[in-house]
Amino acid sequence: MNDKMKRIILAGGSGFLGRALAAHFLDLGWDVVTLTRSQQPSGGIGRQVTWDGCTLSSWQKELEGAAAVVNLTGKSVDCRYTARNRKEILDSRIKPTRVLGEAIRLCPQPPQVWLNASTATIYKHTFAGPWDESGEIGAAPEAKDEFSVEVARAWEQPFDEAQTPGTRKIAMRTTMVLGMGTNSVFPVLRRLVRLGLGGKMGSGRQFVSWMHQVDFCRAVEWLITHDNIQGPVNLAAPNPLPNQEMMKTLRQVCRVPIGLPATNWMLEVGAFFLRTETELIIKSRRVVPRRLIDSGFQFQFPTIREAFEDLSNRGT
Ligand SMILES: NC(=O)c1ccc[n+]([C@@H]2O[C@H](COP(=O)([O-])OP(=O)(O)OC[C@H]3O[C@@H](n4cnc5c(N)ncnc54)[C@H](OP(=O)(O)O)[C@@H]3O)[C@@H](O)[C@H]2O)c1
Repeated sequence: MNDKMKRIILAGGSGFLGRALAAHFLDLGWDVVTLTRSQQPSGGIGRQVTWDGCTLSSWQKELEGAAAVVNLTGKSVDCRYTARNRKEILDSRIKPTRVLGEAIRLCPQPPQVWLNASTATIYKHTFAGPWDESGEIGAAPEAKDEFSVEVARAWEQPFDEAQTPGTRKIAMRTTMVLGMGTNSVFPVLRRLVRLGLGGKMGSGRQFVSWMHQVDFCRAVEWLITHDNIQGPVNLAAPNPLPNQEMMKTLRQVCRVPIGLPATNWMLEVGAFFLRTETELIIKSRRVVPRRLIDSGFQFQFPTIREAFEDLSNRGT
């Protein structure tokens, strides 16, 4: 590493999005540092530094003079919302956000920008016009999203409250990111389609907001390098679409003519056995990236067909 090399810190960077970002910024010649709870990290991309996600210690010095800190920590929400899982989902987002804020505040030479993961699920379930960053925030009983909206609010609150003068802050209200990595939804959807189970889910009318992994990485780079942008930013492709259209497009890309639909009760039973929650599927998320578009960001994959075709060509 030389002194002129830009440094990016990826807290929770060992997961799906972190590994994608690590590869992206290594390609750009940056010094990439992943903060992980693993004591003996192996197979990570870039430098691996151990932390516990809640206490200040020697990892703090990595933040000194960094170009960017990106916080991606959080237990996956793809689980049953038992009392124990709810606590872990909340703690794994709130505690690392708090301790990063404290570490940045104590830096004599603070990082230029801090991007904290958040979620586009913060916006209200809607079948009407799309939500940009000024969209309505809140839960709806029919979307069963009370807990996820609570998580989103509780996640953004310590981030908003953190006093980090000299460090620009951006809350990344991210939609479902489509990629080939572990934890990505795309391989799961494609498997369903290939098994002939790729019909509409529930009513099929619910909107799906999404973003290609490549555009996610490019957008993060864009937000880091455009120092006039701060506050909440939607990380979403510009063309959300109803679930039934998404599934039809994927069937066409996979050349599978038919797909059995899944009714609401089938989703409930399936979610129980897969240890997940139907809200991840039935909520109508219609979110658009107004601030990215207004700042001039160009999407490489603006439509889901382009995204599916690209991802299908990348993996088996
Ligand atoms: N993937 C998406 O489509 C998507 C969409 C919207 C929002 N998000 C949010 O973006 C973030 C990154 O997503 P992802 O898909 O990359 O998730 P992921 O693959 O599950 O990775 C999250 C990372 O968080 C770390 N972590 C988990 N619990 C922690 C804790 N208690 N304290 C500190 N670190 C902890 C883990 O790293 P170590 O085990 O190495 O410490 C893990 O590798 C998550 O917060 C997620 O909710 C993701």
